[in-house]
Amino acid sequence: MVIEIEVNGKNIKANKGDTILETLYNNGIKVPTLCRMDGFTPTGACRMCVVEVEGKTDLIPSCSFPVDESLKIKTHSTRVIRARKMLVELLLSNHPDDCLYCIRNGNCELQDLAVELNVRERRISGDKSKLNSDHSSPGIIRDPAKCILCGRCVRVCEEILDVSTFDFMRRGNKTAISTSMNKDLNFSNCINCGQCIMTCPTGALHEKTNFDIVQDMINNPEMNVIAQFSPSIAVSLADELGLRSGKDISGILVAALKRIGFDKVFDTSFGVDLAIYEQSAELADRIKNDENLPMFSSCCSGWIKHMEQSHPDMIDNVSTSKSPQQMMGAMIKSYFAEKEDISPNKIFSVSIMPCTAKKFEAQREEMTHKGVSDIDVVLTTRELVKLIHLYGIDVQSLDEEKSDAPFNNRSSAGKMPAVSGGLAESIARTLAFHLTEKELTNIKIAKLRGTKERRETYVKIGRQQIGFAVVSGLKNANNLIKEIRDGKSDIKFIEVMACPGGCINGGGQVFTNDDKALKNRAKIIYDLDDKEAINVAHKNSGILELYKEFLGEPMSEKCVKFLHTKYTQRDVLL
Ligand code: SF4
Ligand code: SF4
Ligand code: FES
Repeated sequence: MVIEIEVNGKNIKANKGDTILETLYNNGIKVPTLCRMDGFTPTGACRMCVVEVEGKTDLIPSCSFPVDESLKIKTHSTRVIRARKMLVELLLSNHPDDCLYCIRNGNCELQDLAVELNVRERRISGDKSKLNSDHSSPGIIRDPAKCILCGRCVRVCEEILDVSTFDFMRRGNKTAISTSMNKDLNFSNCINCGQCIMTCPTGALHEKTNFDIVQDMINNPEMNVIAQFSPSIAVSLADELGLRSGKDISGILVAALKRIGFDKVFDTSFGVDLAIYEQSAELADRIKNDENLPMFSSCCSGWIKHMEQSHPDMIDNVSTSKSPQQMMGAMIKSYFAEKEDISPNKIFSVSIMPCTAKKFEAQREEMTHKGVSDIDVVLTTRELVKLIHLYGIDVQSLDEEKSDAPFNNRSSAGKMPAVSGGLAESIARTLAFHLTEKELTNIKIAKLRGTKERRETYVKIGRQQIGFAVVSGLKNANNLIKEIRDGKSDIKFIEVMACPGGCINGGGQVFTNDDKALKNRAKIIYDLDDKEAINVAHKNSGILELYKEFLGEPMSEKCVKFLHTKYTQRDVLL
């Protein structure tokens, strides 16, 4: 029902049941917020969104107050602006004054609010926080001194991830965000997904950066420095680099990475095709033998750590195929090294991913062969942007370049797992080939696409109807696992991505609050699938060549040695 309320002396339309804040936004009136998050129930914790409501003594947090006909509101009265300014001044009173050196300098909501509210002097001085930063995790750094207690990380980790690494501890001016028993992050159940970084308004949470070692290696003439970049990066960076958006910019990324000094640049889409080919062969074997079903995907390293610590009884149900990053890494230091006659010790392998959990995955013990890691360093999308700026690369002036041989072919399926649902769809296509040696009649599986965080469908392969499920956000995965335990599901393959929407919304991506940007990233991927001729991993000529020359058959001994891994129960503080 549409009603009218008075805002700043004018009548505006409002939907009954909406909050004041939603109504203001719908009418183009901007009110600052800090603790509020789209799609979450408001907590009213920060009070930055306060407005003056006629007849009320106190200012009202607009994010949690519903509209009704009688409301007369002032959004920017002197009293309201003073109150918001005072809140920012209080937050700054014990904040470290190191904005120039802060990783979020220029991209910090607290900094933006100080500018917006014209805070130009320190009127309130509080004791500076003495809390130490925590560098223990391979992916995430916590700097509690910069925490403004908005609670956004707590809620994302609990309500989307179902992990609940963080909570509030103590009260009053001693309140802080803490892990279980206030231990370092590497002792906690954190899965390194980085979703808390994406929501944190300040520099209190950020990725651990590996810049320096990459620069050192690029400058070392003894080393062959090789980069691979994830397909999800090529669809998320155009805007950030000032290029025309809505386009896959793989060719530009190859050119930029070459200018920076990488000796070879590979597109991880090849590794994705390899993972699809091998993983669907593994699924075909399990279906033929009716064992360890349903099979869970293994591409998402956040999900893998969660499974090891929360569902260890499901370990045999998880595909043993490594993630595309690790398969690519293993092939670079074996097949490629052999072909080019380079010692694996002289290769420094850098993987550029949309994900902080990949930093954790790369350093797992199981991802090494005779002491040589498949991947030496993982950079996030955000770190790549900084590297491009650091080396003064003007991407606008670059011509597209092709990625290097022998990993320079891909199918459109090699791009699809960037989006939640894309892996399951690509697996279904190649599973049909492994089971029947025929192609699926309809390769576009619409029911596995879309924005719903849980999707399921049955695909007819030969005489069988094979169930596929897609979940993103681990809360949805946990719900599905419960149904499986209760015997309520006959699904055969389950794609799990920890981040909602998949890697296009990974915790290492460039910051965006824009839903449209995410939809646009998915659209680029599916448009490629519509336009391109090779849509299945098993028709990628480079993959067929790799099996013929080096790996043998899928699931061969050599495949198991290089492309598969194992998982173990992980005891963590919950
Ligand atoms: S990285 Fe993910 S799991 Fe770890 S604290 Fe942040 S949101 Fe939670
Ligand atoms: S760490 Fe960041 S997101 Fe979490 S409460 Fe502090 S400021 Fe908010
Ligand atoms: S945004 Fe409304 S109280 Fe924080």
